[in-house]
Amino acid sequence: MSGVKITETVLRDAHQSLIATRMKIDEMLPILDKLDNIGYHSLEAWGGATFDACLRFLDEDPWERLRIIRSKVKKTKLQMLLRGQNLLGYKNYADDVVEYFVQKAVANGMDIIRIFDALNDPRNIETAIKACKKEGGHAQGTVCYTISPVHSLQHFVDDARQLVDMGADSICIKDMAGLLKPFAAYELVKAIKENVKIPIQLHTHYTSGVASMTYIKAIEAGCDAIDCAISPMAMGTSQPPTEPMVATLKDTPYDTGLDLNLLSEISDYFRPIKESYVSSGLLDIKVMGVDVNALIYQVPGGMLSNLVSQLKQSNAADKYEEVLKEIPKVRADFGYPPLVTPTSQIVGTQAVLNVVTGERYKMVPKESKGLVKGEYGKTPAPIPDEIRKKILGDEKPVTCRPADLIAPELENIRSQISEYMEQDEDVLSYALLPQVAEAFFKKRKAKREKPVENKNDEEIAAVISAAVAAMETDSDSRLVVKSIRRISQTSPVWSTAGRLQRQR
Ligand code: CO
Repeated sequence: MSGVKITETVLRDAHQSLIATRMKIDEMLPILDKLDNIGYHSLEAWGGATFDACLRFLDEDPWERLRIIRSKVKKTKLQMLLRGQNLLGYKNYADDVVEYFVQKAVANGMDIIRIFDALNDPRNIETAIKACKKEGGHAQGTVCYTISPVHSLQHFVDDARQLVDMGADSICIKDMAGLLKPFAAYELVKAIKENVKIPIQLHTHYTSGVASMTYIKAIEAGCDAIDCAISPMAMGTSQPPTEPMVATLKDTPYDTGLDLNLLSEISDYFRPIKESYVSSGLLDIKVMGVDVNALIYQVPGGMLSNLVSQLKQSNAADKYEEVLKEIPKVRADFGYPPLVTPTSQIVGTQAVLNVVTGERYKMVPKESKGLVKGEYGKTPAPIPDEIRKKILGDEKPVTCRPADLIAPELENIRSQISEYMEQDEDVLSYALLPQVAEAFFKKRKAKREKPVENKNDEEIAAVISAAVAAMETDSDSRLVVKSIRRISQTSPVWSTAGRLQRQR
């Protein structure tokens, strides 16, 4: 038996889960070479939140980030997370946008694309899988794990089988909330392994404190690969730590073959970086603990903190317990969706409204309506008739694949941003996050067009020496530089250079 493979998440999910995806490319660059030499199965480096945070907060072009990482990571596969037909955005896109996005992701260096849908509706995953295969990428189909009366082992096995039929190269079981407990993981992985022949990878979070145990049981059941984070950026809401897994599996049939000494060099690098996050307040050490509510209420940790703030805004903080009890009821009414973006927000908000208004479904946001209507895809269980009637009235539900209702949109989007286009990929950034991308493009353009008024000494010296050199090589020049005039410190470099040129 070959060893267990490890995907390192420090460049994506680890910092997404701990510090709201704020790790900058400058903090990654010095360690990429070492990461590349570890022998990981893959490095997860990109996803919806990285894309968003790059453009919105870090003033980085996410495509450029991918290219930079690719240029330094030469041996290890790069991996990303893609929200199926939602790509890295928050709504369904037309197939032409999905295909173009996947094409560009692979062209810019992505190897493995993990594709999921919040409802596990395979119709929302298929276009992305096909596009990935067409571009020569590794398409990893994803089954989102959740707990409900309809999510039996057979249900998950059927989901996995459908992904295989679509051409998935491997299957990921994605436990976004740390709900998968060790012995359940054993049963789940065993059931899927018995029914599909492609590799299985398990993704979980340490939120509820069971994740490393879950990995061990999953590995015993035949799980081929696991997602871990280097220890300083592990645990809490992040992934299980890499080094203890490597040490635990060493000299067993599951030996990862990774070198603990090399891994410790990676942790040495990230430890002070983590400290800086703690001292700046970016990393709240509260997220590093065990969240028991995740086990009791089966609600993702992030969703609970959202709830608390929603309740505070409605001056209803005392209704917390009541809302916690309402969540499973709303989830049942909405066909037991797994709770992950965007369904976690939809169910959570509806539960708050049901409690705060004192009447269930008195207020129904358009997202709730969309979910009940089928705009996000097919829910795991049918929506009860009385709920559908109450929320939709006489409106007809959507029963086809939601993206079938969207006409091709790429050309239209391209025409909207033609004035800012500097690379093909810009149209995709704009398609996914219109306002955010436009603001980024404007800033980028302004930066390029701004006359250089750099007071950087090196640059001034370079310009002066270039100008002097140009005069010296000019044999007809009657001008000899007799003395260098004192340059005022505020004098722009280029006007200084121009002045020197005019002396010729
Ligand atoms: Co995750």
